[in-house]
Amino acid sequence: LSASVAALPATAVTPSSPLTSATRERGFPKGFLWGTATSAYQIEGAPTEDGRGPSIWDTFSDVKTNTYTGDNGDMGADHFHRYREDIALMQELGVQTYQFSVSWSRIFPEGTGTPNPRGWDFYDRMLDTLLAAGVQPFCTLYHWDLPQAMMKVGGWQSRDTAKAFADYSAYAVKHLSDRVKHFITMSEVSQFVDGGYRYGSDAPGLKLSDAIVAQVTHNVLVGHGLAVQAVRANARAGTKVGIADNAVSTCPVIETPENIAAARKAYREMNARSLTPIMEGRYSEDYLKGLGANAPKFTAEDMKLISTPLNFIGLNVYEPTWIRASADPGGYEIVDMPKSYPIMAAKWLELGPDGMYWSPKHLQALWGVKEIYITENGAASLDVPTKTGEVLDVDRILFLRSYLEQLQRAVSEGVPVKGYFLWSLIDNYEWSDGYAMRFGITYVDYKTMKRTIKLSGQFYKEVIARNGLA
Ligand code: NOJ
Repeated sequence: LSASVAALPATAVTPSSPLTSATRERGFPKGFLWGTATSAYQIEGAPTEDGRGPSIWDTFSDVKTNTYTGDNGDMGADHFHRYREDIALMQELGVQTYQFSVSWSRIFPEGTGTPNPRGWDFYDRMLDTLLAAGVQPFCTLYHWDLPQAMMKVGGWQSRDTAKAFADYSAYAVKHLSDRVKHFITMSEVSQFVDGGYRYGSDAPGLKLSDAIVAQVTHNVLVGHGLAVQAVRANARAGTKVGIADNAVSTCPVIETPENIAAARKAYREMNARSLTPIMEGRYSEDYLKGLGANAPKFTAEDMKLISTPLNFIGLNVYEPTWIRASADPGGYEIVDMPKSYPIMAAKWLELGPDGMYWSPKHLQALWGVKEIYITENGAASLDVPTKTGEVLDVDRILFLRSYLEQLQRAVSEGVPVKGYFLWSLIDNYEWSDGYAMRFGITYVDYKTMKRTIKLSGQFYKEVIARNGLA
């Protein structure tokens, strides 16, 4: 190997040659937005400060057996008190955007009714600091922490919750839209519905029938549609609104025209619970047929509401689903992964950078979407600081680089991805996996709350500085 390297012209192996054409080809479009993402319950802590009411995650994590070693979000990463430090981290990394979520129960401790004006104090301080630092906010209105009081009506089992969500959204947007230009209604519909209402692995911890789960999903989509309208009715001109969906990333296992067509078909069907109705204003026939008597009850008006046009689609890209063409009536087949398939520290997180290419590509091809953001992508690794305090998370770098290569492939073909928001800025509370699963590019020592940028953070900083792969 060393002989062949030595035989190459010196410029080809010099790492400090950022202006070679090879490097330029690894670049991203001018104005591409690089950011990081977090969510309220996972980082804030301060569960009772300034009059915050309890959310379903406070209640759920009160039961020790519900989460890994009984961890709860009482401390989070203490971002409520350390937001200045965290914004300084963003400046150090050079990120241009920050995707955060508002805790509904800080603003409406009872879910509905009288708002708590003090609930804004923290977000006001945080946003002012963020804007002064030159970082642009993307605000998620709902990232899973439903006010506990909404469980009086069964949470998302009731349309009252969709209505309450719209009221809260309208109020939030009125307050924030002088500073926030991008709103995301909600994060990962199928994830919080299945975790919370089907498997009981997430708050509120219910295990309900297929019929109820289908109705819950529908109510959530109605809530999304109502919130889009609330944003439009209350925001300043020029404000954009979208959703962050954990779309199933269907990837052709070998990129033949047949497999690509099969993967595209699979994308529409496998995302029949959120993206497809949002984009098409109807549930697919296969989806309804599959549910049979368990299909949700809905009206034509609901479907119109659900498919209220959006300014952008956010995609959370993690594990892949491998597809090949088949003679089945559906025309596609899921290719199972063998036991030896590479995974990250989180057991569900199979490596699959191709999804970063195919998910936005399908979105463009199927529905002509013109503005896409990667609203989450990242990996957990079992970070252990060295004696000198460094965190050498080369597995996370491997993961991120491979996904970014596929994203670069997509944008170089004109797929309209306008930004990438890495999950996550800092280690945080990974829901029922507690604090054991660290997704940050910044290490948080939970005893002292000290932050240390990991090697992956240095990698990301380099990517941002080059606007290209590093
Ligand atoms: C999805 C969720 O939106 C976020 O809350 C979670 O921490 C990450 N993905 C990693 O699992």
